[in-house]
Amino acid sequence: MVTRRWDLLTKVRRNGPVSAGLLRLDVELPRPVSFAPGQFAMLNLAGPAEMVLRRPFSILASEADEMSFLYRVAGRGTALLAAARVGDRVACLAPLGTPFPAPTDGLPVILLAGGVGLPPLHAWWARYRRPGDLAFFGGRDGHDVPWDLLADWRVSVDRGVGVPAGREAFAGLVTDLCAQDLARAGATGPYQVLVCGPTPLLRAAAALAAARGWPCLVSVEEHMGCGYGVCKGCVVPVRTGDDEVRNAMSCEEGPVFDASLLAWDRFQQAPAVAGKERG
Ligand SMILES: Cc1cc2nc3c(=O)[nH]c(=O)nc-3n(C[C@H](O)[C@H](O)[C@H](O)COP(=O)(O)OP(=O)(O)OC[C@H]3O[C@@H](n4cnc5c(N)ncnc54)[C@H](O)[C@@H]3O)c2cc1C
Ligand code: FES
Repeated sequence: MVTRRWDLLTKVRRNGPVSAGLLRLDVELPRPVSFAPGQFAMLNLAGPAEMVLRRPFSILASEADEMSFLYRVAGRGTALLAAARVGDRVACLAPLGTPFPAPTDGLPVILLAGGVGLPPLHAWWARYRRPGDLAFFGGRDGHDVPWDLLADWRVSVDRGVGVPAGREAFAGLVTDLCAQDLARAGATGPYQVLVCGPTPLLRAAAALAAARGWPCLVSVEEHMGCGYGVCKGCVVPVRTGDDEVRNAMSCEEGPVFDASLLAWDRFQQAPAVAGKERG
């Protein structure tokens, strides 16, 4: 699939919390930008707060003149983003990366999202959802969950506090919720499993799928310097043969990878940019 990449100067339209830990950023685009679920944008503030390196964020939605993101404050760049006000300028290079696939005939899909891994799978659900597909989200606690975005998702929380009246949350890991629901429904699959979230979730979901012989695709969140194949700072180990492993650039070949091809024993989130805080 070929999508044209745009380097645009956008304007903040809305920027604020959707839960205790997550913020939503909506930017006004100077032109429509199409994307496929799983693709991402490299963002930077324009003006005095501009950083040396842009930061990668999955695209939650892009319609007409607006593109949306969900994010958590992790360090300097995201803190600066959280302080951006309506009208502030944001440089946006998008869409980037290889997306999650569109559904395959006959094979139902299970989505497993954790925390800020929600945007690509929320976009997939909004675009492709069919009867029989299942969506699961895992959050830290009920305060951390963006309930308004998850009307028809099954939700799990690590800690049972903050779950609003009328909503239900499983106490435990999102992969355990998924396994429990499948067992209760007597569902034997096969399903295609699509996953985005922290590395422990990617591993657990890959194991869940592998144990059942189901295909599984994971979106990795490696540190990225450029987002389009120049800095080589985003590599992940991918198996090529029996014992051979090569480095794949997750910004171009990924961020979505076949979980069975990732060399999980060599997989870690190493700092890409010389191990230092980025500019
Ligand atoms: C393809 C892709 C899509 C992403 N989508 C989203 C998204 O939709 N929403 C969102 O909130 N975040 C997303 N991230 C992660 C986001 O890019 C980082 O949180 C952000 O770059 C941190 O920048 P910072 O300057 O605030 O933090 P820094 O000061 O650079 O780092 C602060 C802390 O965050 C850690 N960190 C930095 N980058 C990452 C990373 N890529 N993954 C995990 N930990 C990291 C650092 O190790 C450090 O502990 C995505 C990353 C990738 C590669
Ligand atoms: S982020 Fe620069 S090569 Fe991938």
